[in-house]
Amino acid sequence: MFKKVRTYLFILLSLILLFLFFNDVFTNGQQDSTLFTKDSAVVILDSISAPKDSISVPTISGITAEDKYPHACVSCHKNYKEMYFDGRISTILKEWSEKGVDEKLLAKIQAGAPDGVNLKGKHSYKSNDNTSIPEDCNKCHGKSMKTALPLSQLVHIIHLNGGKDNHYITMFRGECTHCHKLDMKTGIWSVPNGKENEEEK
Ligand code: HEC
Ligand code: HEC
Ligand code: HEC
Repeated sequence: MFKKVRTYLFILLSLILLFLFFNDVFTNGQQDSTLFTKDSAVVILDSISAPKDSISVPTISGITAEDKYPHACVSCHKNYKEMYFDGRISTILKEWSEKGVDEKLLAKIQAGAPDGVNLKGKHSYKSNDNTSIPEDCNKCHGKSMKTALPLSQLVHIIHLNGGKDNHYITMFRGECTHCHKLDMKTGIWSVPNGKENEEEK
């Protein structure tokens, strides 16, 4: 007698469990699809995202902000007379040809040189204010040059290596777009050329 009651109870319990299981399976799909109607999704997303007026557009030179260096190298490497600072590339190269390259800078560049390239620390070539930069540099600093580094390696080491000790990082946030310009329409990147005498001094 006792055994029978237990069997009935067991069957009843099993039926209840089965019912709950299938009920869940059949309604779940429905629940999901009603949960993610467009309206409710929008409500959910709105509630977790920031209020619209607090969304700010990041300042990226030449992308979302004015480009102050449209001719890249020569737009920045100018003769800043009012600050008594001549940063022209022609001035840098003239100094390098006369006095040699600063030791620290040379060590940094040498460390990035491919095997077989041993820099002497003198730059015999000089540019003048009519040199097209960086176009002219590429005549020697192409990818296959055996006595120096390709230009892209040179300028990336010079401007981006060194953390807080590098003025390009601290003064210009290491910004890529002061050199690399994006054509918004085509999505093509390029580094523009310029002459020192075409930039107002
Ligand atoms: C927006 C400004 C800016 C632009 C654009 C720029 N430079 Fe510079 N450049 C700097 C700063 C700042 C330094 C100094 C970095 C440091 O602290 O060592 C520097 C350093 C240099 C030096 C080493 C000078 C030295 O005596 O240590 C060379 C060479 C140079 N740049 C060439 C170029 C070339 C070539 C380009 C274009 C492909 C270019 N730069 C574009 C700001 C700029
Ligand atoms: C006629 C060839 C020639 C041209 C053009 C040239 N370079 Fe060089 N450059 C060299 C050689 C060779 C070296 C290796 C010098 C050495 O052994 O230290 C060098 C080295 C360098 C270095 C590493 C520092 C050093 O002197 O070793 C920098 C930076 C550099 N050149 C920048 C430039 C820039 C910027 C231009 C364009 C304005 C340019 N070069 C144009 C031949 C050239
Ligand atoms: C001071 C100027 C300057 C800055 C700053 C600069 N680049 Fe460049 N980059 C160049 C030049 C010059 C080339 C060679 C372009 C050419 O030959 O057409 C180049 C080439 C490249 C290339 C092509 C591959 C190669 O090495 O030749 C990549 C990728 C690149 N840059 C990424 C970057 C990124 C990412 C940043 C910012 C974190 C940056 N560059 C900042 C001047 C710069």
